[in-house]
Amino acid sequence: MDDGRRIAYDSPVVTTQFQVEIAANRRLTGGYFVLELASERANPVADATPGQFVMLRGDWGRDLLNGRAFSVLEPIDRHRFSVLLKVFGRGTALMQDMPVGAPMTVTGPLGQGFPAPTEGRTQLLVAGGVGLPPLHFLARTLAATKAPTPEMFYGGRTADDLVLTDDLERWGIPTVLATEDGSRGVHGRVTAPLLARIELAQARAEPVELLACGPTPMLRALREIGLAHEIPTYLCLEEMMACGFGVCLGCAVPVYGDKPYKYCCTDGPVFEAAQVRW
Ligand SMILES: Cc1cc2nc3c(=O)[nH]c(=O)nc-3n(C[C@H](O)[C@H](O)[C@H](O)COP(=O)(O)OP(=O)(O)OC[C@H]3O[C@@H](n4cnc5c(N)ncnc54)[C@H](O)[C@@H]3O)c2cc1C
Ligand code: FES
Repeated sequence: MDDGRRIAYDSPVVTTQFQVEIAANRRLTGGYFVLELASERANPVADATPGQFVMLRGDWGRDLLNGRAFSVLEPIDRHRFSVLLKVFGRGTALMQDMPVGAPMTVTGPLGQGFPAPTEGRTQLLVAGGVGLPPLHFLARTLAATKAPTPEMFYGGRTADDLVLTDDLERWGIPTVLATEDGSRGVHGRVTAPLLARIELAQARAEPVELLACGPTPMLRALREIGLAHEIPTYLCLEEMMACGFGVCLGCAVPVYGDKPYKYCCTDGPVFEAAQVRW
C-alpha cells in the first residue's frame, strides 16, 4: 500500500508521497472533523514539527486534481497521524464523508514549522478558528517538555468553533477562550485578552513571544500588536496552495529584504511577522 515515492520536479524541496487509509473520521462541532490516517509502512510525518503541513488527496479520479493543505495535528506514532479539518469547499466536504478504510495520498511533511521556544520567554500561543492545529501540536509538545508552560489564546465565532479544548485542559495549558457572539469564554475577539496579557507582561518586565495561526485579518492584527510592543512574533500563514512544494509559485508572500516575495509552502508557512510586507 505504501509506495513512499520521493518527488523532486524542479522544486527546492525533495519530499515523500505515500499512501494512507482513513483509520478514523471523528466529527466535532461547527463543521470540524479529525481524520486519523494510517500507512502500512512507517511514514515521515512521525518526525513533523508544529506548523508543518501535508497535502492530502482522496481517490477522486479526475475530480479535484490538486491536494489540499492541512497542518499536522498529531503524529500519533510512526504509522499514524491526525489532521483537524473544517469544511470549506468541495475537497473538505468530500473528506468529511470519507469512510474508515478509504485510501488517500499524502505528500509531506512540508514547509518550515515554528522555531524552538526562546529560553526565558513565555510563549503566548494564539489560535483563531481552523488555525488551531499547529498550536495544539505545539502546546502538546511544550507541555511534554520541561519548558515553561505556554499559554493559549483561542478564539472563534461561536462556541461550536472551539474544539479540542479538553486536550488543553488535560495538558495543564492555561487557556483563554473568546467567541465573537459571547457563547463561550470572553465576549469578542481573542486579541483583547491577549493585549491585556501583553500589558501585564510588560508591566512585570516578563519577556514573551507570540506564535499564531488563524484567519489573515487576525494575523495582520497580531503583526501590528507584535511590532508595536516589540515582541518576537511568528505567524503561520494559510495561503491558497496548489502544489505545496515550490513548483506552481502560486503561494507568494510579500516580504521585506533582498527578494520581494517568499513562498508560503517552502519558506513558510511560518514567517517572522516583521518580515511579512503587509
Ligand atoms: C499551510 C496550510 C495549512 C492549513 N491547515 C489547515 C488545517 O489544519 N485545517 C483546515 O481545515 N484547513 C487548513 N488549511 C486550509 C485548507 O487548505 C483549505 O481549507 C482547503 O484547501 C479547502 O479545500 P476545499 O476543496 O474544501 O475548498 P476549495 O475552495 O474548493 O478549494 C481550495 C483549493 O483550491 C485550489 N485553489 C483555489 N484557488 C487557488 C489559488 N489562487 N492558487 C492556488 N490554488 C488555488 C487549491 O488547491 C486550494 O487548496 C491550511 C492551508 C494551508 C496553506
Ligand atoms: S503552493 Fe505551489 S509553489 Fe507554493
